[in-house]
Amino acid sequence: MQFPQLRLRRLRKTETLRRMFRETALSPADFMLPLFVREGRGVRNPIGSMPGQFQLSVDETVKAAREAWGLGVPSVILFGIPDHKDALGSGAYADDGIVQRAIKALKDALPELCVTTDVCLCEYTDHGHCGVIEGGDVSNDPTLELLAREAVSHARAGADLVAPSDMMDGRIAALRAGLDGEGFGDVPIMAYAAKFASTFYGPFRDAAESPPKFGDRRSYQMDPGNGDEALREVELDVQEGADIVMVKPALPYLDVIRRVKDTFGYPTAAYNVSGEYSMVKAMDRLGWGDGRGLMMESLLSIKRAGADLILTYFAVEAARVLNG
Ligand code: PBG
Repeated sequence: MQFPQLRLRRLRKTETLRRMFRETALSPADFMLPLFVREGRGVRNPIGSMPGQFQLSVDETVKAAREAWGLGVPSVILFGIPDHKDALGSGAYADDGIVQRAIKALKDALPELCVTTDVCLCEYTDHGHCGVIEGGDVSNDPTLELLAREAVSHARAGADLVAPSDMMDGRIAALRAGLDGEGFGDVPIMAYAAKFASTFYGPFRDAAESPPKFGDRRSYQMDPGNGDEALREVELDVQEGADIVMVKPALPYLDVIRRVKDTFGYPTAAYNVSGEYSMVKAMDRLGWGDGRGLMMESLLSIKRAGADLILTYFAVEAARVLNG
């Protein structure tokens, strides 16, 4: 059949038809909500560069997670903002650290919530890099031991899933060995497998108070031009035992998400990062676009590209829309 007999517009005529033949549908179960946890009680510090997002004390973190859970969002991912930072990021693997206490409070209040933790050192080091500094650069192998300690400490506190975001070589194997050695063989790892050195992380570094004090992260995060290398990163993490692989950021790397999903058929996550969130909020505030439409279309495109899970600051807002 050919035009004029063939007319694709026939199935677009009504909302009912469009709804019947829509290929991709979002659900609140697709989302994981990032939360920034800091010391104190009753603290809700607005994050200037991320309208609608807050740094929360542990009690407020529980409230935020309860709201998300109530809307059908099954998981959160925790980022810690410690009061004290040092060269080796010791707050990251302290059993009474801020994230460890938040995990316990969340598991007490919401036992079924999937409490995920970001495993990285940059929020805990005084220099703001994701590992141990030697000779002016991040030294790979000494960092692995600290990351493994951090993951074990999170698991001991009750974390359901750990997610290393540092981009050191060999960290998945190091985490797997560390977890297995301490009796946490059933705690899965979500690898930030293809994490690009992105300008879109700008607002996050305000939120987590973690900008590097010197240099940048390009000696460990990936070059934005590299799609083939992203597949090699994912392959390595899969071989080392990752249970879920992530591409980050999401919108500027939809091609990478699709290639990863098609090549490995693994549970695939995508991180709709801070800059992607703030871009939508900025357009909405300036009156340049409808925030709700931009949000839903962004999330839908990430799922259509092949993501099974979307880490997004929109989780609560989008779940509200989906629940009507
Ligand atoms: C820590 C980390 C970062 C993000 C998640 N984990 C920042 C970075 O790598 O600089 C970014 C998240 C976002 O922008 O929303 N390594």
